[in-house]
Amino acid sequence: MGKRGKAMVIFQPSGRRGEVDKGVSIIEASRQLGVDIETLCGEKRVCGKCIVRIEEGFFEKYGIRSTKANAGDWQKEEGKFITPDKREQGYRLGCCAQVQGDLLVFVPEESRAGKQVVSKAARAIHIDWDPAVKYYYVEVAEPTFEEPTADLERILDELNHRYGLTGLDIDLLALRNLPSQLRAGDWKVTVGVWMDREIIRVFPGKHESYYGMAIDIGTTTVAAYFCNLVTMEVIDTVSMMNPQCKYGEDVMSRITYHVMHPDGLQKMSDDIIQGIQGLVTQACEGTHPPKINKRNKGNDKKATPEKAEDNQYLCLNPSDIIDMTIVGNTAMHHILLKLNPEHVGLAPFPPVAHKGLDIKARDLGIGINESAYVHVLPIEAGFVGADNVGVLIAEEPYKKEEIQLIIDIGTNGELVLGNQEKLISSSCATGPALEGAQLAFGMRAAPGAIERITIDPDTHEVDYKVIGRDAWKSYSKPEQVQAKGICGSGILDVLAELYRSGIVLKSGRFNPQEKSKRLRKNSENNQPEFVIAWKEETSIDKDIVITQKDIRQIQLAKGALYCGCKLMMRRMGIEKVDRVKIAGAFGTHVDREKALIMGLFPDCEIEKIISVGNAAGDGARAALLNRRKREEAHWVSRNVQYIELTVEKDFQEQFMQAMQIPHMKDEFPHLEGLVPEEILNQISKSQGLKLK
Ligand code: FES
Repeated sequence: MGKRGKAMVIFQPSGRRGEVDKGVSIIEASRQLGVDIETLCGEKRVCGKCIVRIEEGFFEKYGIRSTKANAGDWQKEEGKFITPDKREQGYRLGCCAQVQGDLLVFVPEESRAGKQVVSKAARAIHIDWDPAVKYYYVEVAEPTFEEPTADLERILDELNHRYGLTGLDIDLLALRNLPSQLRAGDWKVTVGVWMDREIIRVFPGKHESYYGMAIDIGTTTVAAYFCNLVTMEVIDTVSMMNPQCKYGEDVMSRITYHVMHPDGLQKMSDDIIQGIQGLVTQACEGTHPPKINKRNKGNDKKATPEKAEDNQYLCLNPSDIIDMTIVGNTAMHHILLKLNPEHVGLAPFPPVAHKGLDIKARDLGIGINESAYVHVLPIEAGFVGADNVGVLIAEEPYKKEEIQLIIDIGTNGELVLGNQEKLISSSCATGPALEGAQLAFGMRAAPGAIERITIDPDTHEVDYKVIGRDAWKSYSKPEQVQAKGICGSGILDVLAELYRSGIVLKSGRFNPQEKSKRLRKNSENNQPEFVIAWKEETSIDKDIVITQKDIRQIQLAKGALYCGCKLMMRRMGIEKVDRVKIAGAFGTHVDREKALIMGLFPDCEIEKIISVGNAAGDGARAALLNRRKREEAHWVSRNVQYIELTVEKDFQEQFMQAMQIPHMKDEFPHLEGLVPEEILNQISKSQGLKLK
């Protein structure tokens, strides 16, 4: 038995254990003990992904008695996800159950948070060279009795004389290091100057390479591009899950976490700073040779990197990173800077600051060069953040004649439409359905997630591919597949395929005329569902299905995007767009044909639909390698007209129409030949489609 006020909690199968305060939720206990449990809704009790089982009995091995009563009172929200039978067996929602006494908690496979597969590789985009920091080599004379000028003035004179730099300031820490560095270099030093305004580094000798990092903080993933600021080469791309995911999957749940917990903002900010630091370390370690085991050499010296043979290893350290740029949506931006994000979540969503900010890395607690700045790109509007500005400066629609529609699909959908004449932006609440939350078998893009699905239109046989396994299911034995759930790209595929094969009607309802052994009624709730993977192909010991309710959720998300695009086009007075660009980590995996079939956006030539990958990260990189891009970011953030779509008087009607597949009324000439004619020309039946 734990101490008074404390209880012992043991998680299985990981075996992690420890004492926690009585009264905390099982999710909070799991966090404290380092156990990852899915909390897609941020403990708002609406996703049902955090199910755990309380084991009953005396467990001699651990010396505890665990009982269902020790997990606190049953909450009514739990009834939505846990049947009376399962309740009897000890199942609870981790965010509802409270630790009231010792507990042995089993975390089922489907509730374990897998490590997300993050794919945010850098794209080859054209960027002109003009970094914010530049290095200058100077040689100065040693002071004498006749010429005892101060160290700093010697450097300033030389920088003026040789490079025409005037009016420079110097960072205090750089100034403190100046005398020793000058003397160590025998009066020959390299000087790092930021924005032609401030000396931020002086170090001995001549150095011609210097480095920076561009970071994209997404709600779910964080990607860092480690760049050589001279050659503009991306030395490495490193990424991770946003460590704030444990506080909730979407922006609103993070804001809620801040509102509900007095130290919430501090915790979330600390987590992301630590995460960034981890990426910095990882990127730098990648420039060192693998550690050499010298144990057998009778020499206990620390294994240091060998001298860079053939210059193969750059052997860089965090202090070599001299500049950093960051993009992120408004909430991520505010949380990083510990700015109150509360108002960003409430209409009319005003951010604390619009403009781009230059902040000393040390003030943020980021351990790169001690005098370096971090440039955080500007914000357009409450829901359209610096990430969208990043997309804009990478894609530059404002320099083109053709009208582009850029869709950044994340937990929130951000839209930009326009060309050199005019640019408008908006955002729509796609909700988390496209990323897997709230669907019966939705999950993140982690190993075991079904990411591609095809359905044979004649036999309705399903083939699919899971993350972590190269072969499709049809080329694998059932027990090799180990499917666990369906992730975002699989979710887009499934709706397009169900529609194309006639299993789902235009309205989104399962077709009652269809006879398929995969289409059945759920024995518990009598609702129709379609089996994607049979039990023997899964690692969770049950069939993976897509339910009627799931389809409604996907329709709500895609309807929001489509409706957003259409209303923006109406505002611009155009009937069609010249090009559709799909951005976001999600964007790299989207099958453009299927995206059009399910009606994610209005009709467009298939060849003109392109994935631009992580364009927000590309924008951060552009601003790192070219300081004029920072001015451009400022200009564009103030010149995009943000429009709020929900205030349009026919918004509801447009939304309803956009929920149908691909749309209730709009024509899709580019789907001819891709979708059977009788399916594409179905008479639209809107009955059964209800907005929540
Ligand atoms: S229901 Fe518990 S985290 Fe969503």
